[in-house]
Amino acid sequence: MKSYQFLTPFTLPNGVEIKNRVVLAPMTEQMAFQDGTVTQEEISYLQQRAGGVGLLITPVAYINREGKGFEGQLGADHDSKIAGLRKLAFAIKSRGAKAILQIFSAGRMTNSYITRGLQPVSASAIAAPRNGAETPRELSHTEVLQHIQDFAQATRRAIEAGFDGVELHGANTYLLQQFVSPHSNRRTDQWGGSLEKRLSFPLAVIDEVMKIKQQFADPSFIVGYRLSPEEIEQPGISLADTVYFVEKLQDTAIDYIHVSMGNVWRTSMRDSSNTVPIISQIKQVSTQKPVIAVGHIRTPEQAEAVIEKDADFVALGHQLIIDPNWVEKVMSGQQDTIRYQLHVADLDDLGVKAPFLEFIRDMPGFDIIGLGDESQRIIDNVTYL
Ligand SMILES: Cc1cc2nc3c(=O)[nH]c(=O)nc-3n(C[C@H](O)[C@H](O)[C@H](O)COP(=O)(O)O)c2cc1C
Repeated sequence: MKSYQFLTPFTLPNGVEIKNRVVLAPMTEQMAFQDGTVTQEEISYLQQRAGGVGLLITPVAYINREGKGFEGQLGADHDSKIAGLRKLAFAIKSRGAKAILQIFSAGRMTNSYITRGLQPVSASAIAAPRNGAETPRELSHTEVLQHIQDFAQATRRAIEAGFDGVELHGANTYLLQQFVSPHSNRRTDQWGGSLEKRLSFPLAVIDEVMKIKQQFADPSFIVGYRLSPEEIEQPGISLADTVYFVEKLQDTAIDYIHVSMGNVWRTSMRDSSNTVPIISQIKQVSTQKPVIAVGHIRTPEQAEAVIEKDADFVALGHQLIIDPNWVEKVMSGQQDTIRYQLHVADLDDLGVKAPFLEFIRDMPGFDIIGLGDESQRIIDNVTYL
C-alpha cells in the first residue's frame, strides 16, 4: 500500500498535534435556521465529513447581524447560539477531527435583505464592483472597535462551545479583506491609507482574539487566518502586499495561514511576468507558520504533490462534498473507489439538501450527473422564507 506524507501527523506552533494533513475546507451549505442556529441536518452533514480529516473547518459563521452574508448561514453572533454550536463541536470531535469554527463579517458582500433590513457596512462607502451591489455604510472608528470586539466575542463563544479553534476569514473579499484592500478601504484615519494602516484592522482583530484565548482557553486553542493573496479590482491587493502581510503574521500568535485560491497552483493574476506559483512564494515567506493550501485538489497524487514541497496541509472542498470518505479510502488502500462526480441519486446519502444543491448546481466543478427534472422537483418542493 502506498504511503502518503499527507497522512502523517503535524504539530502546530501551539504544540497541538493534528493527526494528518488533510483539512475539510470551509464551505457554506445553507443549512442553518433563519436566525443562524445550527440544525441537526448541518450537524449530520459535517459529522459525516469528520471521520478522516485532521482539521475540519466549519462553514463561515457571522459575528454580528449586519455581517451575515448568506441565507441559512451559521451564526456566532449571540450567546444563544452556544448551545447549538456545542452540539456541532461535539459531533465533529467525536469522529476524531479537530473542530475549527470559521468566523467573519461579510462587510459589503451582503445585502439588506439577508441582514433583514440593516445596511451593509465596510471600511468605506464603496460598493463592490458587481451587478446590484449595495453601497455599504462606512464604519465609524467606534464601530471598527466594536467589530474587533465582535470577532473576540464570537471566539469566546467558540471556546465555550468546545471548539478546538477558530479561523478568521480574511479571504474571498469579505470584511477583513475589505480593510486590507485599497479598493474598499479609502479611509484616511488610523484604519486606512498606507498598507501598514490597512493591515491594522486584521492585526487588531488577531490581538483581541488572542486576549480572549488567554482569558478563556488554554494554549491548545487554535487560531488560524485565511487570506486571498490577490484581488482583480483596481486598485486592489497585490501579491507584494500579501507577502508583506504574511511576513507580519509571522510575528503574531496565530497557528496557521490558509491561502484561499480556486486552483492551488495558480500564478499571479496581476503580474503575468511572475510565473512562480503563489503558494510556493507564500510558503517561502511563512517561515514560522504552517500553510494550508486549497484549490482543485482532487486526487491523492495531487494532494501529495502539494504537501511534498509547497504546504503543510491540503484543504479539500468539492472533493469532500462528493466523497466524504476520501481520507478513509486512501488510508485503507481503496483510493480506486474514490468518487469524483456527484450523482443526483447520491445527494440524500451525502446530506446535500435542496438549498445547498441550488447553491452549487451552477458552480464550476460540480458536474452533477442526472440533474434534470428530478432535481428541479426537489428544489421546487422547498419553501423558502
Ligand atoms: C459551496 C461552497 C461554499 C464555500 N463556502 C466557503 C466558506 O464558508 N468560507 C470560505 O472561506 N470559503 C468557502 N468556500 C471556498 C472553499 O473553502 C475552497 O477554498 C474552494 O472551494 C476551493 O477548493 P476546492 O476546489 O477543493 O473546492 C466555499 C466553496 C464552495 C464550493
